[in-house]
Amino acid sequence: MDLFDKCTVNLGPLGQYADQAEGYFMFPKLEGDISNKMIFKGKERLIWSLNNYLGLANHPEVRKADAEAAADYGMAYPMGARMMSGQTDYHEQLERELAAYVKRESAYLVNFGYQGMFSVISAIVDRKDVIVYDSEAHACIIDGMRMHFGKRFVYPHNNIDNLEIQLRRAQKMTAQTGGGILVITEGVYGMSGDLGKLDEIIALKSKFNFRLLVDDAHGFGTMGPTGAGTDEYFGVQKDVDLYFGTFAKSMAGIGGFIAGDKHVIKYLMYNMRSQIFAKSLPMPMVLGALKRLELIRTQPEHREKLWTIVNALQQGLKKEGFDLGRTESPVTPVILNGTVGEATQITFDLRENYNIFCSIVGYPVVPKGVILLRLIPTAVHTLEDVAYTIKAFKEVKHKLEQKAYTTEMASIANV
Ligand SMILES: Cc1ncc(COP(=O)(O)O)c(C=O)c1O
Repeated sequence: MDLFDKCTVNLGPLGQYADQAEGYFMFPKLEGDISNKMIFKGKERLIWSLNNYLGLANHPEVRKADAEAAADYGMAYPMGARMMSGQTDYHEQLERELAAYVKRESAYLVNFGYQGMFSVISAIVDRKDVIVYDSEAHACIIDGMRMHFGKRFVYPHNNIDNLEIQLRRAQKMTAQTGGGILVITEGVYGMSGDLGKLDEIIALKSKFNFRLLVDDAHGFGTMGPTGAGTDEYFGVQKDVDLYFGTFAKSMAGIGGFIAGDKHVIKYLMYNMRSQIFAKSLPMPMVLGALKRLELIRTQPEHREKLWTIVNALQQGLKKEGFDLGRTESPVTPVILNGTVGEATQITFDLRENYNIFCSIVGYPVVPKGVILLRLIPTAVHTLEDVAYTIKAFKEVKHKLEQKAYTTEMASIANV
């Protein structure tokens, strides 16, 4: 058998739909300025699928800062890993400002949220340590786990009683190995929009000795009175030992950071392999991030506008009887019942007949028989966008209930 035989036989759970879906449901191309309206397949559509929560992607000051940094430094500088030759004052300044914003002693940059997260996990635990994590953890947390040589225990999503059981098991294990315990949760769960129960998890610190790592990819910039994250929202910043944020969402950039006590961040700086053995973030990313952070700190109106849109959309959909699950964040899942085929028919109808572009999530990401249409409100949406979308969703739901959609995959051959 040749190694590559599998590549033509089975493309995997998502790849199996490649022929029918590629370029439309998967790998679609959105063109034009990043905003509430963009071009898809040559037509303007109302876009609800970008994590540009605060609308900073196309903010004139952001565009100017990005362009000036690219003109001044190019995309190459600095060359090499931070440790070898890629260090600059601006990288350090960004870290100081991020740390101050999330109220931690220290912070360190990572080049991508995904890679940074698994790198933090693999650097902070060794084979004596035990990880306890939420069953709905993002893929980057799961990959971090794969790089862990010690034991790991999973608790059902946000089930704190079960977390306690897992912590008891972990405690028994570490009593033998002499290691410590790391609990990992997300701040905002990116598919369902519900929050990791940070307050209840932290309450368990009175019974168990563990450290808490929070991946707040969707909470950074959106949650809490100053937007500093889900732990600020819960008022528990001092009890979250490691706070992780990415630049890919509210910051509309790329990269991320880990923040915590000075000595722990120093340890990560010298032990995160993805940073020691990889090139430093280029200057436009760093200077661009500094500008974005400044706007997040000094212009709360973007967050306020985001929440105006979130509240209008979520309250409006709920009023019309839509099931939004357990969301408490801007992430707005609309949960319907139907097959993967029907899900594609609905999405096709929304895109082609209503010019609404949202993401569709089907099995295996959600259970069989469930269709999840995920809407991401942002500060650049308008209340008219919201009203139009609710009306369209009402019509589409009615059609689904009337069995107007077939269970075949939507045909995208002619679009
Ligand atoms: C919870 C969580 N962690 C990490 C990431 C990865 O972040 P990045 O896109 O910055 O690599 C994501 C992105 O979807 C996420 O939702």
